Amino acid sequence: MRIEQDRLSAAQFKDLFKSVGWQAPSLEQIEVALSNSMAVFCAYDDEIPVGMIRLIGDGGMSFYVKDFAIRPQYQGQGIGRLLMESVEEYIQSQLKEGWAVSLELISSKGKESFYEKFGFEVRPCAWDGAGMFKMVRKK
Ligand SMILES: CC(C)(COP(=O)(O)OP(=O)(O)OC[C@H]1O[C@@H](n2cnc3c(N)ncnc32)[C@H](O)[C@@H]1OP(=O)(O)O)[C@@H](O)C(=O)NCCC(=O)NCCS
Repeated sequence: MRIEQDRLSAAQFKDLFKSVGWQAPSLEQIEVALSNSMAVFCAYDDEIPVGMIRLIGDGGMSFYVKDFAIRPQYQGQGIGRLLMESVEEYIQSQLKEGWAVSLELISSKGKESFYEKFGFEVRPCAWDGAGMFKMVRKK
């Protein structure tokens, strides 16, 4: 198993996305998203992409995890951990002395305890309200 950065094609992304039961957008939309991402990490079993994670953000204050998916038959083998660690290493490489930045995501239902293992805090918490989400469609 090896992790590579920024090599995943839109078609491979779409295939991985669909493998976990998510409805994928068009290849054109995926291509734009991939090319504007800060980093896209993919785990390969030989040449087969088996897991991915995408990081977006402003590089200075805020980072956001999207499209974290491991092919079902490869789940529970530590690949998610490798990908999350790759994201955190990447963010560390971007930070200057004294910086602290936020790393956010929306957990799938029931996966919160996975993220808690990596130090994420569930919201609402004692000091903050719920994360908010809105899908915007072209009028
Ligand atoms: C959630 C997901 C990314 C985790 O990846 P994975 O490769 O299966 O996870 P790993 O094998 O690396 O597990 C890492 C750790 O998390 C734990 N873990 C794995 N899945 C978990 C879950 N659903 N809930 C709680 N803990 C979980 C493991 O036991 C392991 O703990 P350990 O390191 O202390 O032994 C993967 O299961 C997946 O793609 N699911 C379907 C799509 C999805 O829901 N993505 C998340 C969108 S927010």
